[in-house]
Amino acid sequence: METSGLAYHEATRYDRSNMARHYLDWEHQPSVYKRYLGIEPVALPGGEVHLPDIRLSRLLKDPDAVPICREPDPRLLSCIFRLTYSLTAKARHAGGDFYYRSVASAGALYPAEIYVATEGVGQLQDGLYHFSIAHHGLSLLRPGRLPLSAKRETEDLDTTLPVLTFFITAIFFRSAWKYRERSYRYHLLDAGHLLENLILALTALGLPNVVTLDFDDDRVNRLLGVDEEREVCLSICRAPGSVAYHPETIEDIVALGDAFRNLSRVSGKEVDYPAVREVHRAGADLVSRPASVPPIISLLGPVLGEWRRLDRIDPWPETLSHAEAVIRRRSRRNFVKKPISGGSLAALLNGLCAGRDGSPKEGTDSLHPSLAIGLLVGNAEGWDPGFYLLDPASCSFALVHHGLFMDRMARICLDQMWTAHAGIHVLFLSNLKEVDRIWGPRGYRYAMMTAGRMGERLYLMAEAMGLGCCGIGAFYDTEAAALLGLNPASRLLYLAAVGPIASIQTR
Ligand SMILES: Cc1cc2nc3c(=O)[nH]c(=O)nc-3n(C[C@H](O)[C@H](O)[C@H](O)COP(=O)(O)O)c2cc1C
Repeated sequence: METSGLAYHEATRYDRSNMARHYLDWEHQPSVYKRYLGIEPVALPGGEVHLPDIRLSRLLKDPDAVPICREPDPRLLSCIFRLTYSLTAKARHAGGDFYYRSVASAGALYPAEIYVATEGVGQLQDGLYHFSIAHHGLSLLRPGRLPLSAKRETEDLDTTLPVLTFFITAIFFRSAWKYRERSYRYHLLDAGHLLENLILALTALGLPNVVTLDFDDDRVNRLLGVDEEREVCLSICRAPGSVAYHPETIEDIVALGDAFRNLSRVSGKEVDYPAVREVHRAGADLVSRPASVPPIISLLGPVLGEWRRLDRIDPWPETLSHAEAVIRRRSRRNFVKKPISGGSLAALLNGLCAGRDGSPKEGTDSLHPSLAIGLLVGNAEGWDPGFYLLDPASCSFALVHHGLFMDRMARICLDQMWTAHAGIHVLFLSNLKEVDRIWGPRGYRYAMMTAGRMGERLYLMAEAMGLGCCGIGAFYDTEAAALLGLNPASRLLYLAAVGPIASIQTR
């Protein structure tokens, strides 16, 4: 079936007058933990590991200033996972304890898994591992060096053997159980959230890293041993080493077998949502990178006012380190009608503009050009209420319309009226027709995962500055586009409400 990002997004829109009832099948709730029976996870070093004491502002503004780590070891790997994907809060439910994680996830359904291939990490045996979040440990799936053919897929940017190669996957049914066809949006957004945590963790620990969303889906899924109808790799992030490497041969990847593939099944009764599989499959083809890409911001529809440069803020009003912000991060909804300070808002927007060198570069850790960022200002010191667009490349913003839009947007967000009290709504937008034209259906992955990345970045910046933040993936799509005056090819992809809160709620 022919499909595209725009067609999928449109087919999965929420419509106020046509919301199909859906009852959760609690008896067949998916498991949020993947376990490899018979492969005992090797525990990573625990409590004695010290997390780095670095400000998020430094990681975002000047990542190259962090001293390079020359000899990664299991303690370092342990820190990476603590700062990326760890259990950080417990809630008691009738059915037992439930653990929240260091990353936000739509509906706390946690579709994402992480695998890592290691090469020369202290005493750790080289190999491909699955990270078990429940054990904070690694299950060895393939001993030895990663097949070179797989390396080749992930290594178009330089020719050294990576010491660490991380693979982020999503298990479809975990989110589809609740969100059905719409769940692919959340697979991508959630994977983007996790990817941002990973990039920041590696950066904080002195491991320069390269991200790619472009790889041969089939080969990488085979390498990981997942059932690609149920679980798929969405991004790869590697920390290059210093050993030169020249790929010459393409090796076949030996399948890991059905016992491994079957572990991508997470419930005794899974419902198949073909739209999810089809839109993912449609993105399998890689379109060669265009030499130049028009700025998506100019293709959304709204007519922009004059561009103004953002104030540079130094230092940011942070009270927590990056590591503390990761461990304490929560979705916070207790917004109060107090203005967000001009300094905090400037810091948040500067943070969204930050890339490795301040300029958007495809395939690296900066903002992918498929995504545009907007802003609804409700209550912010020094800012008129209104709808603005942000240009990360020049760190500038332009007014689209003056006015108070927060209440209307809160209604559009399925009447989640508490979002109206936030100081701002950060809007992640794209012209999906243009994205399809430039990158083919895979472009939808780029735009949505980048939106997820920026969402997680906002969560962490807000936490570090004592503000609240909550991602919002539930909205009436057509109403949102109409409120913002987007053209028929453009859509709201994701939203994050940020602002002062009553107090820090803990779980
Ligand atoms: C993609 C995405 C969409 C979300 N959408 C909503 C939403 O519409 N409403 C809401 O209250 N929370 C939303 N959340 C927040 C999640 O419910 C929250 O992350 C999850 O319950 C885990 O809790 P925690 O963030 O406090 O760890 C969303 C989070 C993500 C990552």
